[in-house]
Amino acid sequence: MTPSDGTPPPFEPYRTKVVERIPNPSPSERQAALERAHYNLFQLRSDEIRVDLLTDSGTGAMSDRQWASLMLGDESYAGSRNFTHFESVVRELTGFPHIFPTHQGRAAENLLFSTFCRPGSIVPNNMHFDTTQAHVLHNGGRPVNLAISEAYDPESEMPFKGNVDLLALKALLELEGPEHIPLMMVTITNNTGGGQPVSLANLREVASLVHGRGIPLYLDMCRWAENAYFVREREPGQGDRTIAQIGREFFDLADGATMSAKKDGLVNIGGFVATRDPSVAERLNEAQILFEGFTTYGGLARRDLEAMAVGLVEATDLEYLEHRIAQIRYLGEQLAARGVPLLRPIGGHAVYLDVRRFLPHLSTEDLPGQALVVEIYREGAIRTVEVGSLMFGESDSGGKSLELVRLAVPRRVYSAAQLSYVADAVGRVYARRREIRGIRYVHRPDRLPHFTARFAPALPVTPSTG
Ligand code: F0G
Repeated sequence: MTPSDGTPPPFEPYRTKVVERIPNPSPSERQAALERAHYNLFQLRSDEIRVDLLTDSGTGAMSDRQWASLMLGDESYAGSRNFTHFESVVRELTGFPHIFPTHQGRAAENLLFSTFCRPGSIVPNNMHFDTTQAHVLHNGGRPVNLAISEAYDPESEMPFKGNVDLLALKALLELEGPEHIPLMMVTITNNTGGGQPVSLANLREVASLVHGRGIPLYLDMCRWAENAYFVREREPGQGDRTIAQIGREFFDLADGATMSAKKDGLVNIGGFVATRDPSVAERLNEAQILFEGFTTYGGLARRDLEAMAVGLVEATDLEYLEHRIAQIRYLGEQLAARGVPLLRPIGGHAVYLDVRRFLPHLSTEDLPGQALVVEIYREGAIRTVEVGSLMFGESDSGGKSLELVRLAVPRRVYSAAQLSYVADAVGRVYARRREIRGIRYVHRPDRLPHFTARFAPALPVTPSTG
């Protein structure tokens, strides 16, 4: 019998035109795959995976219109008409005049932080994502996380847990001036903290605080459409506005943004950095040509720019977003009905398991999140990702931390039946949680360790005979 909270699966506002057969590795094949991958699921091969919830980034399905748009590729090195179209779409959505395409989000971060950061720079954010944090560090800066305290309480139902702690921001600004803080970032939605939205009211306050001290505000806008959906749903007075209108109000408060279009751009590759400031634009353009490619392609095929232009608009479609958010909630509520402890409220692109409540018998040194992703893979050939002390061990969050496992749902890919399969498998892991042992490092790289670290199961505790 399948437990359920009684909610019917959400209606998918699209039908299937192309199908892709998915693998079904046996339990012994899964064990062999784990050993080959040194218990690091980033090292698995996709043919070893039944449901892949590693990331929602670049893993979505493009629409028929996007596939058709690829045929309109004008592969001119300079001045491609696909760039003109892409640029006009991004200008219309964001209002930012200067737009530089990049091959993905971290490339946009490279351009932005190499332009702004110097050794000793401090870059505040609600919560830095792993690549954002790594780029600030790479440029000699110090990334600081200033999310509200509710963001660190997985059980708090506060509707805008992505918000910036304004008192902490004020205190930092009083201590350090613009000479040490070259820019402020705000991530919408806050991926590291559970896919939680930032409210318009909060961003208005942040903008006025930093602008009052001459510090520019940049948005990490990967999941801006999902953030706008939550604002429409939860923030007083926003219920009748379109996603594009709400998004535009966010962008109007900022000086620029970095975008990984692999999320709310609905493409498999692509991104951009945008700014209002002509002198910043000049430096971004120089860095873009050096690291990515000429201004009008930035590391992408021109047909990719066309697909991105179409995808960015599709991501603002309310019916698409209603299904997207409902699908994540459906997965979350199915898990909750099986008793699985989750971070609340359920986020925009993923369900996050609360590892401290899932595996209370394991300590941080046991790498409990990694132990859990291994068990979920073993149970159902489902790939998830640790978002906790392994991914963010070195973060500066004033001693606060979260220990999560993320089940990120690719856009327009999986059906409700496939998500129920996931809920059943994770439910079975939860039922046998007391048998789960820790994981230990065999090899730990210095930077971004989660991608390439090697692990082994911790040795079973032998009862003392003395
Ligand atoms: N910022 C945020 C908030 C992100 O979630 C990501 C990527 C990036 C920047 C970097 O973008 O991958 O295109 O270079 N997040 C993916 C994830 C990888 O799984 O959450 P990218």
